[in-house]
Amino acid sequence: MAERRIALLGATGSIGRQALEVIAANPELSVCALASRSQPLDDLAAEHGVEHVQVGGELTELLEASEPDIVLNAVVGFAGVGATLWALEHGVALALANKESLVAAGDLAIAAWKRGGGLLLPVDSEHSAVFQCLEGRAPEAVDSVVLTASGGPFRNHSLVDLESVTVEGALAHPTWSMGPKITIDSATLANKGLELIEAHFLFGLEYERIEVVVHPTSVVHALVRFRDGAALAHLGYPDMRVPISFALTFPDRRSTAVRSLDLSAGLTLEFEQPDPQRFPLLPIARQAGERGGTYPCAFNAANEVAVAAFLDGKIGFLDIASLVEDALARVDGAPARDLAELIEADADARRLASGRLAPA
Ligand SMILES: NC(=O)c1ccc[n+]([C@@H]2O[C@H](COP(=O)([O-])OP(=O)(O)OC[C@H]3O[C@@H](n4cnc5c(N)ncnc54)[C@H](OP(=O)(O)O)[C@@H]3O)[C@@H](O)[C@H]2O)c1
Repeated sequence: MAERRIALLGATGSIGRQALEVIAANPELSVCALASRSQPLDDLAAEHGVEHVQVGGELTELLEASEPDIVLNAVVGFAGVGATLWALEHGVALALANKESLVAAGDLAIAAWKRGGGLLLPVDSEHSAVFQCLEGRAPEAVDSVVLTASGGPFRNHSLVDLESVTVEGALAHPTWSMGPKITIDSATLANKGLELIEAHFLFGLEYERIEVVVHPTSVVHALVRFRDGAALAHLGYPDMRVPISFALTFPDRRSTAVRSLDLSAGLTLEFEQPDPQRFPLLPIARQAGERGGTYPCAFNAANEVAVAAFLDGKIGFLDIASLVEDALARVDGAPARDLAELIEADADARRLASGRLAPA
């Protein structure tokens, strides 16, 4: 493998820290740029000998200055959209953890990817799994794709129970250790909604060919059914170092510190259907995806506002879905022709969702 210089955006986060571990384990990988929103990066920069460092500010300026071989976008939320579009447009390999940017930018991102012609490697574990099962096969060979969801900490809660869950309870994910925003998204299943839209854009599949099932142990990350009746699944313990390493060392498959699957104690694979009544953000996301235009962008924006409000103790758990549904009913959803229009659509949805938070 030739040397690869990586721009690590979101270096202080859950994915960012695990990426630094993967990079340290592979001598051909080095960090050429580090970015965070507000946490200082001096110690990390000194430790990894990084010249280009940025706390806050325009991520694309950092990318222009550091000229990376790979951009690992591990920023959380819409804030990552400029960096995603930059990498795709410039044909620089993009290892994408920041699913929100692909969901929001959608068609604009795919058009930039086509023009740029670079690699787009998913870091989301389910999408990395689908990518590996597909091995570049055309959408026509695929019957359907199945994304698994752990079901989060409230999988067995009744609607009444869900009314009174706490922030601490929602942050206690049963199988994955992640940043706060994605942990709440996993509890509401908004995360799986975002992933559904992400899969649509990444793999060029219609929504009716992407299924979501709840699989509580998170051992099967995804499954692809092919038109010949075969189905390929991707299994492994839930550990993000595997998809991060896969993306950064693609097409090699380097060793990681993660142990391989042990079947000696047996393996039970359970799957169940997600409940749209208790977890309405999944069907709401599917509908936003199917409507297209800037509906997915609005879904993401309203969800970001709602999750922040829930984490701040301003709204209850079930209010997250109502806030998003309400905002989606009021946006116009017209397609964005460029980044400026996309930013406008994002801001509109945020305004509508925030408006509902104001005291009556
Ligand atoms: N964690 C997981 O296991 C996992 C799995 C699959 C996908 N993902 C996706 O990966 C992304 C990151 O998730 P995470 O769990 O790592 O989040 P996190 O722990 O909350 O970390 C977020 C990172 O983004 C940085 N950041 C936020 N806004 C920024 C901005 N405007 N400019 C520069 N940096 C900014 C933060 O910097 P500060 O520290 O300074 O705030 C932090 O380094 C999300 O899109 C998530 O959906 C995560």
